[in-house]
Amino acid sequence: MIFENIKSAPKDPILGLTAEFNNDIKSNKVNLSVGVYQDNNGITPTFDSVLTAEKILLEKNYSKSYKPIDGDKKFLSESLKLVLGESIYEKVNNSSFGLNTPGGTGALKLVSEFLSRFSQKSKVWFSNPTWANHKPIFESSGFKTKEYTYLDFEKNSVDFEGFITSVTNIPDGDILVLHGCCHNPTGADLSNNQWLELSKILKNKNIITICDFAYQGLGSGIDKDAKGVRILVENLDDLFICSSYSKNFGLYSERVGCLIYINNRNRNIDNLLSQLKKTARTIYSNPPAHGSNIVTEILQDSFLKKLWKSELKTLRERIQIMRISLNSNLKERNCMKDFSYIVEQNGMFSFTGLSKQNVEKLKNDYSIYIVNSGRVNIAGITTNNIDYIADSITKVVNN
Ligand code: LMR
Repeated sequence: MIFENIKSAPKDPILGLTAEFNNDIKSNKVNLSVGVYQDNNGITPTFDSVLTAEKILLEKNYSKSYKPIDGDKKFLSESLKLVLGESIYEKVNNSSFGLNTPGGTGALKLVSEFLSRFSQKSKVWFSNPTWANHKPIFESSGFKTKEYTYLDFEKNSVDFEGFITSVTNIPDGDILVLHGCCHNPTGADLSNNQWLELSKILKNKNIITICDFAYQGLGSGIDKDAKGVRILVENLDDLFICSSYSKNFGLYSERVGCLIYINNRNRNIDNLLSQLKKTARTIYSNPPAHGSNIVTEILQDSFLKKLWKSELKTLRERIQIMRISLNSNLKERNCMKDFSYIVEQNGMFSFTGLSKQNVEKLKNDYSIYIVNSGRVNIAGITTNNIDYIADSITKVVNN
């Protein structure tokens, strides 16, 4: 029987840690691994805007029949408007489309499966470092993956010169994956000028660009976080964007995302859409309904949209306060490592520069769970656990 020879797969580097955390019996355990927002009580709240939208949906008694393969038109136009902003949306309305996907991961898988049908020999380039699931998604579609320079590991900020040199040298026909904002895992983002410089280089290159955009609104604001993506849209001939509603609507388990394609070359986009639908049909057939109905309900209703924006602002501000607080708490304890860059980094994550040994020790001795790379989910820090976290990190680093 062939199944007898199957070896166990390694634990998922992010979700596997949460499974370990759930089994940990220590009362002071802290989960700073998976990118899930927690409020100051350590709870992952459901947004009031989401709960209200759910009540409205219940009253509407909507049908559970299949959605179109690419999703509902209203969901798609609202998704494009959110990512692109109204004015760019108006401009590219006829040269763009979206597909509602099961989460941002679904959008990445859809574009990777699609590209594997038409561009199998391309190599796929990711930042060093990148989200732990990026390479597996594309490698499981048959691609070889490569890394471009991104982080200056000494300073824990973007090595822009190295990045530009690296991107300039990507061969024609290859695929480039960028992070639109709140870079995962580093929290180190490009400035608007750097996005502009990058887009000028990409414009003259014959490569396929995909922008992973899973944290809109978690960094500096809904529109501010989209600035880089919008600069790319205005300057490149083609662009794929993988957006997600997991974090900014707290709809993690509902699996709501959108794959967006924009073309500025007046190419016939209908053929492309038809092929993407064909690919979607073979992986998940059509998107889950409940989460995307919630998003549509909120984005279409001015009251709910305003409520959602203010809820998202609360999340964002709490994360920023925790960044400042963690840094100052570590300084107060005379931690021998300078963590000042945590304050500058953006979004849920910080790349702490903690070594693998430090991370192991924090897990084994203190039940503090951090991704192996040293990535910390700042949104898991609360006023209740910050002393414990700062004490433990200081002990481990100063030891
Ligand atoms: C993360 O990076 O922690 C999140 O995007 C969750 C995931 O699926 O890995």
